[in-house]
Amino acid sequence: LVNYHSNHTGCRYDRRRPVYRVQGRIFIQKNSCPKEPEILRGVLFRPDDILIVTYPKSGTVWMQEIVPLILSQGDPVVVDTVPNWDRVPWLEARAYIQNLDQRPSPRVFITHFQYNMMPTGFLKVKPRVIYVMRNPRDVFTSYLHFSRMASYLVSPGTQTEFLNKFLDGKGIQYMDCLSIAFVHFYPLCLFSLLGLIFNPETGIRRLWPLHIHINFFSSLTLVIFGSWFDHVKGWLSATEQHIMYISYEEMILDLEASVTRMAQFLDTPLDSEMIRKITDRCVFKNMKKNKMSNYSLMPSTMMDQNVSEFLRKGIAGDWKNHLTAAEAENFDEFYRKQMKDVKYTFVWD
Ligand code: A3P
Repeated sequence: LVNYHSNHTGCRYDRRRPVYRVQGRIFIQKNSCPKEPEILRGVLFRPDDILIVTYPKSGTVWMQEIVPLILSQGDPVVVDTVPNWDRVPWLEARAYIQNLDQRPSPRVFITHFQYNMMPTGFLKVKPRVIYVMRNPRDVFTSYLHFSRMASYLVSPGTQTEFLNKFLDGKGIQYMDCLSIAFVHFYPLCLFSLLGLIFNPETGIRRLWPLHIHINFFSSLTLVIFGSWFDHVKGWLSATEQHIMYISYEEMILDLEASVTRMAQFLDTPLDSEMIRKITDRCVFKNMKKNKMSNYSLMPSTMMDQNVSEFLRKGIAGDWKNHLTAAEAENFDEFYRKQMKDVKYTFVWD
């Protein structure tokens, strides 16, 4: 990807360092997999593809529930039987989800890519995009909790430390491969080996988590996160693309109206009964129960939901319960500076 885009975006890849830097801001986890640069290069976009684009913690899994239900006109089979990461694959995790090209149209993907990282195929084909934004203060709060429970993320440190990293655009970092190997693979190998020695019959079964780990980590080979401000400003500037903008807060305020707007954008006629059914499935308390969507299928060694649930609170404004007055002020000042030229009216403003 980086090689592919170096001319387009002016990004720089330094082989001696464990990160890729793009315009001094974006970090991509380095992986020794030689296929890595090809991950997006081979995606052949179709005009009827649907891309859900978010900055992390802005409502991605929510959209993985809503959009398939809109396309199935409220039929819940797909959301009841297929895990969200397979139902609406993460474009960056293409190595993990096989045969994207064989999926029937309309395919739905999610991505956290910034606009200037999108492949030229995307820019030419112009598939439909739903871009979801969320108050960055709540994104921050959600991310802080998430970083504490997801073992593959670099520890967030204290709230103030994480806030500084977040504002700087460096908050979201995956552990490097060596640390992942150390923290996960070696103990598991040892555990499995001991299992084999002491109980050859059941010990072998303990090897299976390894496969999950290897698969999941290979899916994290190309995760790009940068500054929330760059992400939002970049996508808001993408006027030539076919994009619908919506915010998490609008969905909280009026989910029915939001679903209706999305269905119109996706040219899927829905009657009021279907809209009501979809909305009912997707409200926080109901969606939280869906095993295919709440990440309870993920091993607790990866996501420890005792520390913090993936579907944690599902509200707008939780930042007020967490940020100190000084932190909130610092955030406001930074926000004002960063967003002063943005014309878009955000609900949270
Ligand atoms: P909180 O941590 O604030 O609760 P993402 O999917 O992009 O990682 O975002 C996760 C955030 O979206 C979490 O926020 C999660 O609770 C929230 N979320 C997921 N599904 C939701 C729903 N149906 N209604 C409201 N919020 C939802």
